[in-house]
Amino acid sequence: MTMTKSYLSRSFLLCLSLITFITCTVEKEKRIINFPETDLSAENMIPKPLKVIPTHSGFALDEFTAIYTSESATGFTEVGEFLAKKIKAKTDIDVPVNMNEIPDLETVIYINQSDSTKLADTEAYQLYISQDSIILNANTAEGAFRGIQTIRQIIPETSNDTLADNKIWTIPTGKIIDNPQFEYRGAMLDVARHFFSVEDVKKYIDLLAYYKYNALHLHLTDDQGWRIEIKSWPLLTEVGGSTEVGGEAGGFYTQEEYKDIIAYAGERHMLIIPEIDMPGHTNAASVSYPILNGNGKTPQLYEGTEVGKSTFATRKDTVYAFVDDVVREIAAITPGPYFHIGGDESHVTKKNDYIYFVERVEKIVQKHGKRMIGWDEIGQAAIDSTSISHFWASQKNALAAVDKGMKIIMSPAKKAYLDMQYDSLSKHGLHWAAYIPTDTAYTWSPENYEGIPIKNILGVEAPLWSETISNIEELEYLAFPRAIGYSELSWTTQENRDWENYKVRLANQAPFLDRMNVKYYPSPLIDWKKSKYTYREIEKD
Ligand code: ACM
Repeated sequence: MTMTKSYLSRSFLLCLSLITFITCTVEKEKRIINFPETDLSAENMIPKPLKVIPTHSGFALDEFTAIYTSESATGFTEVGEFLAKKIKAKTDIDVPVNMNEIPDLETVIYINQSDSTKLADTEAYQLYISQDSIILNANTAEGAFRGIQTIRQIIPETSNDTLADNKIWTIPTGKIIDNPQFEYRGAMLDVARHFFSVEDVKKYIDLLAYYKYNALHLHLTDDQGWRIEIKSWPLLTEVGGSTEVGGEAGGFYTQEEYKDIIAYAGERHMLIIPEIDMPGHTNAASVSYPILNGNGKTPQLYEGTEVGKSTFATRKDTVYAFVDDVVREIAAITPGPYFHIGGDESHVTKKNDYIYFVERVEKIVQKHGKRMIGWDEIGQAAIDSTSISHFWASQKNALAAVDKGMKIIMSPAKKAYLDMQYDSLSKHGLHWAAYIPTDTAYTWSPENYEGIPIKNILGVEAPLWSETISNIEELEYLAFPRAIGYSELSWTTQENRDWENYKVRLANQAPFLDRMNVKYYPSPLIDWKKSKYTYREIEKD
């Protein structure tokens, strides 16, 4: 087999941009590669795309590949650059992005902005993979970003060194048509019970983005800690951020650090949803400013794990001045549309005081330009249909929200809580709601759960509470592999999901997880694929 380097001119690229790739007639001496038969539909993509049509040949990703993007469309160049960075990390190939002259070009990945009505969903994308080109069409940079995760997932871990004179990573050819079932696909991290560093949060974001998550909800405050700088109330972090469960030093994000997390998530087309939990779960705030306290006791720093003992003084105007300042400062640096007010387990707030509080805080959130999310208890209040109920425990409360026309985020604790133990042998986690083995996490249907109509469902979120975990390895043990399954539950339609099929694709995530140094729980239900970087080896280093 011989390989001849060839030349792809700028005019040829123009043809590409007009999507006349097939009919383009630029003279080009092609190298002939005899790819072994491939099957795009058998690739280990998670979440599984809507439609995959294989054409059984190969696209050669190698040192003669370049990426071109619609340059005038907002964010497309950045998506191309992100893909190039990830290709470099996986294969060590430097793939140029939007370079003018590349004499040795053989194959092109073209990330194209398209106004096709078939791509009307913001996150929809289509991939056309042939021997010469991968054309990724999307209406928005967000859609293109989801599409490049699919490309990353179908680049093999290892190259084939016998097809040509150089190393080739063979990508199977065919067509993929894809868009998400639900618009909200989130994870939550509790940084209040134990604090997690900016670096830890970024690593989690990077892993979630690979599986097409688009939201990370940060539970920023609780009885045990206040984790976000509020400039107008500085003691919140100075006092309330000084400890955590178990009595360690705690910590908090400065507003600059929080903005850094937001920017990192934004580069991955993910939103950060800030949560300030109130009127219960507020001990850390009340220790910092006792005037806020409404439980009649002198607040003290708390390092335990019980819930339901704290409350704000919901009939004091000072409390609403405080809430207004906190929401204003956070809303000003949070680009997403949502603000989560918590609202769960306010067991020592009288019911009518709780309702009064939620209704008044909803107005504050709206005044600062955000849409309120609250745990399902908020469904008891007379709130707006634009507010969102976060279903975790009470079907009654969630259905009350449905009656008001509200959207629901599905996080039933029995199925979707990442801090629930896998089984009685799990090293970390709790089991007050259930044990959630890897198959149980995957095999329920958010589409028809406890009578919540699908038309009300905004999406699915997998919360990770941190009473029992205090570092990234412990986080990864509880989150992975289950968080991977939740990505498929929220992206992929019910007809396209199947545990037997999923568990093979999941087994094949091991090389990626190992390469990313993710200390996942090696569930015995999965026949994990071996890779050259097993996390056990890394642990020994
Ligand atoms: C919750 O688990 N208290 C929302």
